Order: sequence, then C-alpha cells, then structure tokens
Amino acid sequence: MTVHIGAKQDQIAETVLMPGDPKRAQWAAQTFLDRPELVNDVRGMLGYTGTWRGNRVTVQGSGMGMPSLSIYANELIRDYGVKTLIRIGSCGAMQAHVALRDVVIAMTASSISTPSSTILREVNFAPCADWGLLNAAVTAAKARGIAPHVGGIYSSDTFYDERPDLTEQMTRHGTLAVEMEAAELYTLAARHGARALAVLTVSDHLQTGEALDSQTRESSFGDMVEIALAAAFPE
Ligand code: HPA
Repeated sequence: MTVHIGAKQDQIAETVLMPGDPKRAQWAAQTFLDRPELVNDVRGMLGYTGTWRGNRVTVQGSGMGMPSLSIYANELIRDYGVKTLIRIGSCGAMQAHVALRDVVIAMTASSISTPSSTILREVNFAPCADWGLLNAAVTAAKARGIAPHVGGIYSSDTFYDERPDLTEQMTRHGTLAVEMEAAELYTLAARHGARALAVLTVSDHLQTGEALDSQTRESSFGDMVEIALAAAFPE
C-alpha cells in the first residue's frame, strides 16, 4: 500500500495502462481484460488488474493533469516496481489534418512546466516516448487498419485556455494535439528507468470547435486500449 494506492504489493502488474478517468479504467479493464480484479479504490481512483492474452496488466486511473498523474506514476514506479506505463486518453487536435477520432501517438511532449521542472531547474528537458513502445504501437495501429499520427504533442496545465497566442505558436510549430499529462509521465519514466508512451484519441478540435459525443468517445477509446495492449505485449 502507498498513500494513494491501496493495492497490496503483488496486486499491481509490471505493465500499467493509465487513463485519466477512473471510470474508463473500470470500463477498459472489464471490457478487455480476463478476470479483472479491483485493486485500488482510494479516492475513487479505480485500478484493476487482470490479464490480456495471458499477460498480467493493471489499468489505473491517473486523474486529470500532471500533478495528479505524477502522484500515481511515482508510486507505481517507485513503490510497486512498474516498468511500463502507457497513458490512454483523449486530446484536442491542433492541426487541420488531424481529425476527430484519429489516434495520436506522442513521440514528444512539450510543456510550460511539469511537476519535475523544480528539479530540472533551468533545463528545458525534452520528454520523449520509449522508442520500442512507440514502434510497437504504430505497428499495432496499422495492423488494425488505423493510420496513427505520430509526433509532438503539448501537455498543458489548463483545459480552459486563455492564451490563444500560445496555441497559435504551438500549432505553427507542428504540434499535433493538446492534452494534460504526457510530459510528466515521460519525464518520470526517464528518471526512473521505466518505459512510457501516450496513445491518444482526438475528442475535440481546437480549430473547428467540433467535439465527439459520449457514445463515439467510448467506441474510439476501445481502439486506443487495444493499440496500447498490443504495444505492451507485441506478438
Ligand atoms: N485541452 C486540454 N486537454 C484536452 C483537450 C483540450 O482541448 N481535449 C482533450 N484533452
């Protein structure tokens, strides 16, 4: 047990999928895993462990934003010995060629700051995905007939953004999408020798203002879970 995770030491797998929403963790575990078992409900931040094609895997909610994700990722890596962490979540598209429902795989994640900035101080660290996971995720997506967008994303501290000038600059520099967690996940994984990746589904579009309805969100979320699992356990 840790401060925020009630699971016993052996109840967390070495591979963890991390959606922001704890209810999506429950849905993903109950939909895709065999024999999912509830291993955490501290603060309602649900975590389940089960198997996928015989491989042990945990799905643990991260909450929204980097400070929340940082708590769970720190405890998973440092206290439970987790080696592979894959964020699965939604993002807002920043480029015209990135459409609603598209899958974005984050090669890098820019940010203004992360919870780790205090230790990196003046360094603009470049948080990047684990190459092996990234490569496997692209292969897994293509095998399912999905052509993912692979490139840089922006991990923002705000959902209700008041800096259109910043969005414009990030868009101008080719950033594919915005979300709120990946930069800290990649930084923590780098620091502790773990592997990390973020596989995202476009839920809204910053240029057009379109957004997915809740039903479509759920079905496109399924593709992303399958890509993440196949990337973690390539055949
Ligand atoms: N901004 C930040 N995070 C997000 C967004 C967004 O527009 N969409 C999904 N996650």
